[in-house]
Amino acid sequence: MRKIALFLMTLGVMAMQAQDIALTTPETGKGCNTMLAFNQRRSTRQFSTKELSVQDLSNLLWATMGINRQDNKLTAPSCQNKQEIRLFALTPKGAYEYMPASHTLRHIADGDFRPAVAGQQTFVNDAPLCLVMVADMDKFGSTDSRSMTMAAIDAGIVTENACIAAAGLGFATVPRASMDSAKLQEILGLTENQIPLMNTPIGYFKE
Ligand SMILES: Cc1cc2nc3c(=O)[nH]c(=O)nc-3n(C[C@H](O)[C@H](O)[C@H](O)COP(=O)(O)O)c2cc1C
Repeated sequence: MRKIALFLMTLGVMAMQAQDIALTTPETGKGCNTMLAFNQRRSTRQFSTKELSVQDLSNLLWATMGINRQDNKLTAPSCQNKQEIRLFALTPKGAYEYMPASHTLRHIADGDFRPAVAGQQTFVNDAPLCLVMVADMDKFGSTDSRSMTMAAIDAGIVTENACIAAAGLGFATVPRASMDSAKLQEILGLTENQIPLMNTPIGYFKE
């Protein structure tokens, strides 16, 4: 099984394009203890503009929705293991999709698209990383109300993973539902069945 996972990861890296970002190995021993992370979890709406390192991105993305077992299951549980939440990362430089299988960021477009996440809440534009949780309803094969409910719950779980990861690793964040969903669908090349549900701006605490 380990060989298959390694093979798939190698294939993923081979398929990378020039502007994709290969993430370093996540530091799975890093961060404070569990109870302290919960004690630190809170919404913060002020961010330092200091950029995150590739290692910071690796740790945050893996904790939020990375593969943590040899059967390719994720840190975030999902309804019937549909894994229908797709995780997008917007930085000051571009828009990317986190690809758990290869632990890479797939390049989508150059530019600063954080204002589409921010909307009226302009503090979001200071955060060096905006994660956007998108429900890919094609993976459910339905957009009926039960499927939409399950997808919303799954997006909430991924979001909480991001919040606890940020708290445990010493970063500021806030879970948000507000954003310009139509604009984000356009920027990220999504269909109407791929729905942005939540986002988390993440960064260092403002001094
Ligand atoms: C589903 C959901 C949507 C939210 N949307 C926003 C939002 O759009 N903007 C915002 O500033 N905070 C948003 N929040 C954060 C809440 O306002 C915050 O969690 C709440 O006030 C409790 O504060 P705490 O997170 O510090 O415990 C959202 C939280 C949840 C769970």
